[in-house]
Amino acid sequence: MEFKVTPWDVEGVVDYERLIEQFGTSPLTEELIEKTAKLTGGELPIFFRRRFFFSHRDYDKVLADYESGRGFFLYTGRGPSGPMHIGHIIPFYATKWLQEKFNVNLYIQITDDEKFLFKEKLTLEETKRWAYENILDIIAVGFDPDKTFIFQNSEFTKIYEMALPIAKKINFSMAKAVFGFNEQSKIGMIFYPAIQAAPTFFEKKRCLIPAAIDQDPYWRLQRDFAESLGYYKAAALHSKFFPPLTGLEGKMSASKPETAVYLTDDPEEAGKKIWKFALTGGRATAKEQREKGGEPEKCVVFKWFEIFFEPDDEKLMERYRACKSGELLCGQCKRELIERVQKFLKEHQERRKKAEKLVDNFKYTGELAREQWDKAIPEALKD
Ligand code: TRP
Repeated sequence: MEFKVTPWDVEGVVDYERLIEQFGTSPLTEELIEKTAKLTGGELPIFFRRRFFFSHRDYDKVLADYESGRGFFLYTGRGPSGPMHIGHIIPFYATKWLQEKFNVNLYIQITDDEKFLFKEKLTLEETKRWAYENILDIIAVGFDPDKTFIFQNSEFTKIYEMALPIAKKINFSMAKAVFGFNEQSKIGMIFYPAIQAAPTFFEKKRCLIPAAIDQDPYWRLQRDFAESLGYYKAAALHSKFFPPLTGLEGKMSASKPETAVYLTDDPEEAGKKIWKFALTGGRATAKEQREKGGEPEKCVVFKWFEIFFEPDDEKLMERYRACKSGELLCGQCKRELIERVQKFLKEHQERRKKAEKLVDNFKYTGELAREQWDKAIPEALKD
């Protein structure tokens, strides 16, 4: 079956092995995962154990830089076009884990400019409001305020200056080849990739970007010219997509409310949504299911447990077995997932409330990067 992955769209059932080939990235091997465990003291988080992160670029070099004492920094982001859902927040948890274990700076870009330019109907005012709302969800993940810098492009206008040397390195045919721009593309869209690439140069160290794999085209472009500006090629850890409630195709979409559980959903309502819309691998009748067993491979409920909501490996295996053998029916299983999701939402929402007072502690004014940049910019602007 065909599938399609671009920074704007994910369609069909994604074959992640084939995507690695298509995008020219590298599989996240057992060896790299073990090395991560060794360097961080053993226990790996669920995202690595379950291979939610499955692909990378130069992650081996990042670990080598860490070992040699050269260090690295983290960069990720969010396009504020609407409320954030559970799928959006998972890479941020993985990023928090990396920050904690490696004790490194993290820059988070909020691209209200991007969403204004790319979404026909979104006004600048709306995307700025979503930026604020999304920042609360991100802070609620619990990042270290001394090492985490959140900036919103429309406010942090220095990003423009930082994007300039980059914009001078990319010609239209390169951008067209990577993003499929055409004569109808808005000129703001064509400039935008320089803005998303700029944070990879915030420090003169290797930059590691944990993000869903649909963002990789930006890093591919950056890797074409980074070294000519005296910087490192961006390194990336790529995640899969969190499946929508309604099936294992595509990704959860902010524009289709029945497919997603939003971080701001009332826990009761979220429970009802899961109960009503979650696709399972169940049989037509309970009798048939007791006889033949369920099909966890086809089940969104099982996937949600696997990716995020059942961190205990043995318990996950037990759930798999009980489903396959027909002992565990879908109603029971769904109820258990709903409990987990509701607990997560309640805790998240409490932390989100507290985040309202913390926003200023995370807002980035550019000092750190500025210092690095001032050292580099005269060189870069020479050609
Ligand atoms: N383009 C991303 C989005 O639409 C936002 C973004 C900007 C981003 N910089 C990033 C995402 C770095 C991941 C990593 O959501």
